[in-house]
Amino acid sequence: MSASSSQTTTPLDAAAVKADFPLLQREVNGSPIVYLDSGATSQKPRQVLKVIDAYYHEINANVHRGAYHIAELATSAMEQARAKVQRFIAAPSSSEIIFTKNATEAINLVAHSWGRANLSEGDVVLITGLEHHANIVPWHQLAAERGVEVRWIPLTDDGRLDLHDLDSLLEGVRLVALSSASKVLGTLTPVRELADAAHAVGALCLVDASQSVPHLPTNVTEWDCDFVAFTGHKMCGPTGIGVLWGRSELLEAMPPFMGGGEMILDVTMEGFTPNELPWKFEAGTPPIAQIIGLGAAVDYLDSIGMDSVRAHEMALTDYALRTLADRHGDDLLVHGPSAVADRGGVLSMCYRDIHPHDLSQVLDQRGVCVRAGHHCAKPLMRLLGVGATTRASLYVYNDESDIDALSEALTEAGDFFAHQPA
Ligand SMILES: Cc1ncc(COP(=O)(O)O)c(C=O)c1O
Repeated sequence: MSASSSQTTTPLDAAAVKADFPLLQREVNGSPIVYLDSGATSQKPRQVLKVIDAYYHEINANVHRGAYHIAELATSAMEQARAKVQRFIAAPSSSEIIFTKNATEAINLVAHSWGRANLSEGDVVLITGLEHHANIVPWHQLAAERGVEVRWIPLTDDGRLDLHDLDSLLEGVRLVALSSASKVLGTLTPVRELADAAHAVGALCLVDASQSVPHLPTNVTEWDCDFVAFTGHKMCGPTGIGVLWGRSELLEAMPPFMGGGEMILDVTMEGFTPNELPWKFEAGTPPIAQIIGLGAAVDYLDSIGMDSVRAHEMALTDYALRTLADRHGDDLLVHGPSAVADRGGVLSMCYRDIHPHDLSQVLDQRGVCVRAGHHCAKPLMRLLGVGATTRASLYVYNDESDIDALSEALTEAGDFFAHQPA
C-alpha cells in the first residue's frame, strides 16, 4: 500500500488500498466484485490476514498462563494489541480497554454489570431513534426486569437527532446511550454535546461507536463520555472481537460480568476475588488471534491515517449522492442528511417501488453486494415508514468505479422489473 504513513490528510490511494484486499480481486456471477456492504462487515487486508496466520503458525499458546517462550510471545502480542487500540481511540489507559466478542457484548456488559448495579424502577435510559438493536434490546431487558424506562430522542425529517426538547427528555435520566454514526442513515451525532448534557443531570453517557471508529478519527477523551463500544470486524479486523472502553473509576466499581478464567485473582471454597482491570471483565480464554488481528487492523488504518479515511469517504459519498441523483432523479430516494459533513458513507435507498430484497438479488447478478432489509434497526424503519431499504455502504477500498457500477446495475434492475408482468 502506498498511502501516507502519517496522520495527515494525504489523499488515500484507492487503487493501492484495493489491491491490499485479496477478496476484492475475485469475481461474482462473472463480474468483478463490487463490495458495498462494509456497514455489515469490512473486508480484510492481507496485512491483517498475515498477522493472524503468523500467530497460529508461530506463537499459538494460551495467554497469561504459560511461562514458556511462545506463551510469553502470545501474551505480549495480545497486550501490545490492547495498547494499539488504546492509542487509536485516545483512551487514557490500556487497562480501560476491555476485549469482548463484539459491540453487542460490550453494550450488554454495561447493561448487565453497571445497569443491574445502578438502575432501579423509574430510572430512565435515554436512547435515540437511530439505534441498532444491540443498543435497544439490553435496555428493554432492564425495563422488563426492573421497571427501568426506555425513552427515545426523536429524529428530524432528514434523520438527525431532534434535540429541541432535550431538557425535558433528560428528566430522570441515568444513562444516555447513543450511536455516534447511524448504520442506516449515516447520520453523525453530536456526541460531546450529549455527553455534556448527560453529565449536567448526573447521568452517564455510553457511545455505540461501531459505525464511526472504522471511518473517523476517534478521541474518547474529547468526547468526554463514559463508555464506548465498537466491533473489530467492521474496521478491517476479524470477527469475534469487540471493545468496551470505560472510565477506570466506573469499571473499578462495577461487578464482573461473567465468571471464570482470567477474571479471577483468587478463588476459595467461600468465594472469589476478581482480577484487576482489564482482565476482571475478560472471563475465560480470550480470542487471542482475533485480538492480535485487531491490533494489525489498527496498524493498517493508522498507516493510511484516519483523517485520510474520512476525507476519502466524504469525497466518495459526495460523488455517490450527486451521481445517483443525476442519473436516477426521482426514481431514487436516499434517506438521511443531505450534507456530506453530517453523514458517513452509508446510502440507504428506495428505488422506484422495487422491494429491496428483489433489488439486491438483481444487483448481485452484476457482482454488486449491497444489504437489503431492516439493518437491525426496526424502530428506525418504522420512523422512516418503510419495512426495508437497500443500503450501499462505503469504505477505504471503494472508489468512483464502484459507484458507477452500482448506478449502472440500478438502471438494469429498473429495466428488468419494468418488463415483469404486474
Ligand atoms: C451501530 C451498530 N451497533 C452495534 C452493532 C453490532 O455489532 P456486532 O454484531 O459486531 O456486535 C452494529 C452492527 O451492525 C452496528 O452497526
